[in-house]
Amino acid sequence: MAALILSFLVFSISLLVKTSLSSPSDLQILHAERQLQKFVECVLMGSIILQQVENIGDTPTSEVLLAFPPAQFDHLALVKAAVTVGKKRKKSYVPLEVNPSEQPEAPNGTKFYAISLLNPLAKGESTTLEILYILSHSLEPFPVEISQSESQFVYYHDSAVVLSPYHIKQQATLFKTPSNKVESFTQVEPTYLNGAELKYGPYEDHRPYSYYPIIIHFENNHPFAVVEELEREIEVSHWGSVQVTEHYKLAHAGAKHKGVFSRVEYQSRPGASGVSSFKHLLAMLPPRVHSVYYRDDIGNISSSHLRTSSKKSELLIEPRYPLFGGWKASFLIGYGVPLQDFLFESAVGERYLNFSFGCPIADTVVDKLTVKVVLPEGSKDPSVKVAFAVEQSLEKKYSYLDVIGRTVVVLEKKNVVPDHNIPFQVHYKFNQIFMLAEPLMLVSAFFLFFITFVAYLHIDLSLRK
Ligand SMILES: *[C@@H]1O[C@H](CO)[C@@H](O)[C@H](O)[C@H]1NC(C)=O
Ligand SMILES: *[C@@H]1O[C@H](CO)[C@@H](O)[C@H](O)[C@H]1NC(C)=O
Ligand SMILES: *[C@@H]1O[C@H](CO)[C@@H](O)[C@H](O)[C@H]1NC(C)=O
Repeated sequence: MAALILSFLVFSISLLVKTSLSSPSDLQILHAERQLQKFVECVLMGSIILQQVENIGDTPTSEVLLAFPPAQFDHLALVKAAVTVGKKRKKSYVPLEVNPSEQPEAPNGTKFYAISLLNPLAKGESTTLEILYILSHSLEPFPVEISQSESQFVYYHDSAVVLSPYHIKQQATLFKTPSNKVESFTQVEPTYLNGAELKYGPYEDHRPYSYYPIIIHFENNHPFAVVEELEREIEVSHWGSVQVTEHYKLAHAGAKHKGVFSRVEYQSRPGASGVSSFKHLLAMLPPRVHSVYYRDDIGNISSSHLRTSSKKSELLIEPRYPLFGGWKASFLIGYGVPLQDFLFESAVGERYLNFSFGCPIADTVVDKLTVKVVLPEGSKDPSVKVAFAVEQSLEKKYSYLDVIGRTVVVLEKKNVVPDHNIPFQVHYKFNQIFMLAEPLMLVSAFFLFFITFVAYLHIDLSLRK
């Protein structure tokens, strides 16, 4: 009995030790270097190099926490981390797993991602990490309305120091603005502005969760092309092609256009009038694309140009009018691609579609993306392989000559950036017998028609007699 109690005690003590393992204060960072710059039009990319993340506690730890203020966390489209191995010339990067993480007792609603290290960091050991993150919708146009001849300015809110649950001994942040026109910025000494580079720091010895709010106000004439909603339907037909239809709801999310649009002024002073508007969009389509069409709310448009080469195809789309801040356009693009370029057979005899996930239009963010893969009739057991988290569901679709309907794999993702334009796969099982379904339906339809026709003739004749 005593032994039982003793072992129970030992067990609970070891549990206590386990829970204290992840206590964030066991780490400290010798040097942090952060850089923020434009990624695509209205999206910022941040990179942080954490040099010598050192375990100063007694227990090994295998997690490093990344902290974000709640407002920024909601706009994170992507977070990646890598550990650097080797020195100088032989330096290489090994990607690490990064997942959202809950931490009780986090001050001011701080949110976290946890980086899982390859090997636990023992007492006194240190490692160097590189982090990359992408923030969409983090630039706020101000003034909120501009006229056709004005430049667009934006606000960016952040902290002068890197938000972290760990003590950071030394750090600096570099903010690169798109042009030299920086209207104003919060000073947290030392702060230097040099052309289009704004440097905060170096700062020494900042305690965990230090936060110094800053606002930077600068010119940003990049049109804010935001696809509020994109639905891509990818239909696989074993009869030779993959048919893609894409419905776009596009908006210019920059400063709102004030006054009346003057096409004369716009055309006579290019570069000065409507600098933050956009006239065309470039869609990158697969090579060997065929039957491309582009249609907006009013009807088919032929003023789009298609350039194809063996490596890629580019579709230049010209909306009917240039898009200014606050304006919207919805349109549709359709195209076909050869089946053999995208449909393969796996080692276990399954078929799989290998297609790109994100938005084909360059330099855009997509608030809500839905990808629907319509599998051929008779396909079974679909499974999806995609490199990031997406919501999955199944639907049925019926088109002409369908008997039992087609399985549709539906994938949904919010906050999509160009980094998400990577291939994903949909595996499925298919019985060859279903290849005959469509021709059989056609044949029986003709046969039925023929029988009815003959019967009709007979009735007709018998009436005359
Ligand atoms: C929480 O936010 C308030 C107001 O912004 C600030 O004064 C305070 O220092 C913050 N607390 C911590 C622990 O960071
Ligand atoms: C536009 O073109 C497509 C394909 O060429 C066609 O299917 C569709 O009916 C056309 N729509 C209009 C409104 O002309
Ligand atoms: C999918 O296609 C890409 C190129 O478009 C290729 O690099 C990749 O290996 C393919 N993946 C699979 C699983 O076939």
